[in-house]
Amino acid sequence: MKVLIVGSGGREHAIAWKVAKSDKVEKIYCAPGNAGISQIAECVDIGAMEFEKLVEFAKSKEIDLTVIGMDDPLVGGVVDEFEKAGLRVFGPRKNAAILEGSKAFSKDLMKKYHIPTAAYETFDSPKKAMEYLENSKYPIVLKADGLALGKGVLICNTKEEAMDGVKTLMLDKQFGSAGNTIVVEEFMTGREVSVLSFVDGNTIRIMTSAQDHKRAGDGDTGLNTGGMGTFSPSPFYTKEVDEFCQKYIYQPTVDAMKSEGREFKGIIFFGLMLTKDGPKVLEYNARFGDPETQVVLPRMKNDIVDVFEACIDGTLDQAELEFADNAAVCVVLASEGYPVKYEKGFEIKGLEKFDGQDSYFVFHAGTKKSGEQFVTNGGRVLGVTATGKDLKIARQNAYEATKWIEFDNKYMRNDIGKAIDEV
Ligand code: AMP
Ligand code: GLY
Repeated sequence: MKVLIVGSGGREHAIAWKVAKSDKVEKIYCAPGNAGISQIAECVDIGAMEFEKLVEFAKSKEIDLTVIGMDDPLVGGVVDEFEKAGLRVFGPRKNAAILEGSKAFSKDLMKKYHIPTAAYETFDSPKKAMEYLENSKYPIVLKADGLALGKGVLICNTKEEAMDGVKTLMLDKQFGSAGNTIVVEEFMTGREVSVLSFVDGNTIRIMTSAQDHKRAGDGDTGLNTGGMGTFSPSPFYTKEVDEFCQKYIYQPTVDAMKSEGREFKGIIFFGLMLTKDGPKVLEYNARFGDPETQVVLPRMKNDIVDVFEACIDGTLDQAELEFADNAAVCVVLASEGYPVKYEKGFEIKGLEKFDGQDSYFVFHAGTKKSGEQFVTNGGRVLGVTATGKDLKIARQNAYEATKWIEFDNKYMRNDIGKAIDEV
């Protein structure tokens, strides 16, 4: 089989690595990919939003399966374009990717189908939003309706902050049209857990749980980032939590989408908060998480291509997912200054130490080749993942392996997985 993967981050590197393990796959392409991915796939210079070129490429190379990693093309309808051309593609159509593409849509869906989530109101008028915020309880959460690179969520501790937030999102349009509508949501407290799942329209199969660390600094301080590290499984995701979510969240979400005429095929990523009143949905994503994928896929035993195909064919009910009885930790090596301002172009040393290892992995995010050298080319540069028999050992291994890599301005959090110690 020939497989095309669309995207360019650490997530897509992990997907490509897993796809490469399938006996059925003889060739992998990635658009646009990155320097790490180019070691296992042929990278082609087509952007993830260039739908026509992607379809043309897939036709000309007779690609058997295309996997879309990123949210923007999914929300923009890339799957519909591939299907129109008679190509096999893994991911939700545009009318289903709205589950991630519009927070107002997903909140209304949850309300209509009684799926547990924070109480909320939706506004498309800044004046009405401000009037509502006059008499609200604080803290409160403001969310841009549309995609905003994970940065469209503002936690406001006071009325003044909330008024400023409305201005930022709706008037100054910091996230463009994503802020035309906002969701104002009750503030919840509790542990966060990421649960990824495969869905074939009817059946949902849950992968192992993970936890992300979104803030830039140790102790969850500093700005929100794309994710500074992950661990899997989450010890807080107990059997009881799983049973609750299976009954009240996972299947009900798939059934709700079907009832709305928006059959969902692909990945649903449930961002959950374990509140004292039980698990609630913080957000849905319509794709693999980054860097959750970098800890979940190294633990997955299945041939992932079989699972992608079962989702497309609607035969997921005949598949069981299997995960190793171990743990994984991923520490992101970033450029100092991320997510605001940082320099690029520094040589990366030590990558070869990961060659031939089976419990240490280095997934590239922002790297490129300069001659024979790998150089830094982004805020998040690499994700160093290690497995171990339990979370503590996986964490020790991952931090040990971060020392193998050197580049100027290397920055990482030193407390990825610290929550493990509280169990
Ligand atoms: P989201 O993109 O909706 O997952 O929001 C990003 C982050 O904001 C989440 O991972 C939470 O840490 C935080 N957050 C979102 N919604 C709420 C809420 N209702 N209460 C407390 N924190 C929230
Ligand atoms: N790690 C969070 C995300 O992928 O959205």
